[in-house]
Amino acid sequence: MYIHDLHTKKQQGKRFSSITAYDASFSRLIGQAGIELVLVGDSLGNVIQGKKTTIPVTLDEMAYHTEAVSRGGEAFFLVSDMPFMTYATSNDALVNAAVLMQAGAQMVKLEGGEWLGDTIFQLAERGLPVCAHIGLTPQSVHKMGGFKVQGKQREDAETILADALILEEAGAELLVVECVPSSLGAQLAKRLRIPVIGIGAGPQTDAQILVLYDMLGISARIPKFSRNFLDGETSVLDALQAYADSVRNGRFPAPEHCFSDS
Ligand code: KIV
Repeated sequence: MYIHDLHTKKQQGKRFSSITAYDASFSRLIGQAGIELVLVGDSLGNVIQGKKTTIPVTLDEMAYHTEAVSRGGEAFFLVSDMPFMTYATSNDALVNAAVLMQAGAQMVKLEGGEWLGDTIFQLAERGLPVCAHIGLTPQSVHKMGGFKVQGKQREDAETILADALILEEAGAELLVVECVPSSLGAQLAKRLRIPVIGIGAGPQTDAQILVLYDMLGISARIPKFSRNFLDGETSVLDALQAYADSVRNGRFPAPEHCFSDS
């Protein structure tokens, strides 16, 4: 799978599914389930390492898990998270993104708004594809004052939209938007040319992403925006296929997984 396949899906109005993975065995099943995109998320700090935040995750750990996931399958597009402070300057970003690309990633994901524009431009110019991540950005949890829904006030929603347009213009080829009202998720998907992947961003984004352990019901706490897809299924593969089908058919997310502006 290549990035242009995902862009084509957006142009054709076909929703696609994505999920996090951290090892080869799950990534093999995810490939079999026909899920289009896998993110080696720094959420591994939470679900694999049992840490409270993603802040302690290191570049070496991301490279290790990226290599493992890339050995599991080739049917999907593979994105890897750049961990906390590994892209604080454009130069850091170039050097550190190269490590993840050499570990098997096809794209790197960076959290942040307008300030990332120049870094994204420099990465893209050198042939390093970028996914931007806005809305709730977990690496900034202490700045945000907790894991809270973002963009509820009109001015905040306008800032998020303006940031997204700047990051697309700078060269981002995918956008993840996390925990925002459904109305903002819909607006982002409408205004951007690149696919917008939502997590807690309503049903009208171009794609959905979930943390693997949340959607299998094995995380310590399942967030409101997720659903246990293993419930009622008899295997992990069936659960993954049920998730992919529900996203394609627009049955997930349902209203109970979404946030409103009020
Ligand atoms: O690290 C992660 O799992 C993520 C997703 C929540 C999008 O960034």
